[in-house]
Amino acid sequence: MGITGMIYMVTMVFSLIVLILSPSAAKYDYLQFTQQYQPAACKFHHTPCKDPPDKLFTVHGLWPSNFNGPDPENCKVKPTASQTIDTSLKPQLEIIWPNVFNRADHESFWQKQWDKHGTCGSPTIIDKNHYFETVIRMYITEKQNVSYILSKANINPDGKGRTRKDIQIAIRNSTNDKEPKLKCQTKNGITELVEVSLCSNYFGKNFINCPNKTPGKTRYSCPTNDIHY
Ligand SMILES: *[C@@H]1O[C@H](CO)[C@@H](O)[C@H](O)[C@H]1NC(C)=O
Ligand SMILES: *[C@@H]1O[C@H](CO)[C@@H](O)[C@H](O)[C@H]1NC(C)=O
Repeated sequence: MGITGMIYMVTMVFSLIVLILSPSAAKYDYLQFTQQYQPAACKFHHTPCKDPPDKLFTVHGLWPSNFNGPDPENCKVKPTASQTIDTSLKPQLEIIWPNVFNRADHESFWQKQWDKHGTCGSPTIIDKNHYFETVIRMYITEKQNVSYILSKANINPDGKGRTRKDIQIAIRNSTNDKEPKLKCQTKNGITELVEVSLCSNYFGKNFINCPNKTPGKTRYSCPTNDIHY
């Protein structure tokens, strides 16, 4: 190999390393649609909610996520992209995606979710408005409303203890038999269902099993019995 060949090879190897190490554009494998049960979200929040919660699961966020490794966050978007949310979307967002901790300020909650998560959903999520439109479509049009899904299986928010299996079966019945992700928290010996996530593929089109990224006992995992909702 001549000197030119050597230089060529070194350049190629170097470029490859740069390519691998460079912060790539947003990469994600699937979409996680997470809803929070308002009374439980308030109970376990570090500050109390300013207004009384409704007994409903409402949106926490739609999160582009990875099967392995960390999920993308705070991705770059075209500076020309729209920075505002269409006012026509807000009445629906206020119902399905309230800032349960401070209802006087939904906007900052929406903005935070867009900045941290929505920006990483390209190309499925086209821009800011499309992020919010997508969530409205999922929750309302496609009836991915977790309160509604549970109520169809006669699981209503009456504070009773449930088995994890009953909750999973109820949700699987509405998600083409795919596994949800559940988050529970415990205070004074009572474990409550705090969040439910439904997972769909890269395109947000078909449900998939939510991956169990942190198997075993985590601070938020749900026990097999006596989950209060
Ligand atoms: C979600 O489902 C619950 C329970 O069926 C219902 O009370 C609520 O109005 C629904 N929300 C929307 C926006 O459809
Ligand atoms: C599953 O859904 C069907 C149709 O909505 C309903 O008839 C059935 O009772 C559900 N089963 C469970 C376990 O939720």
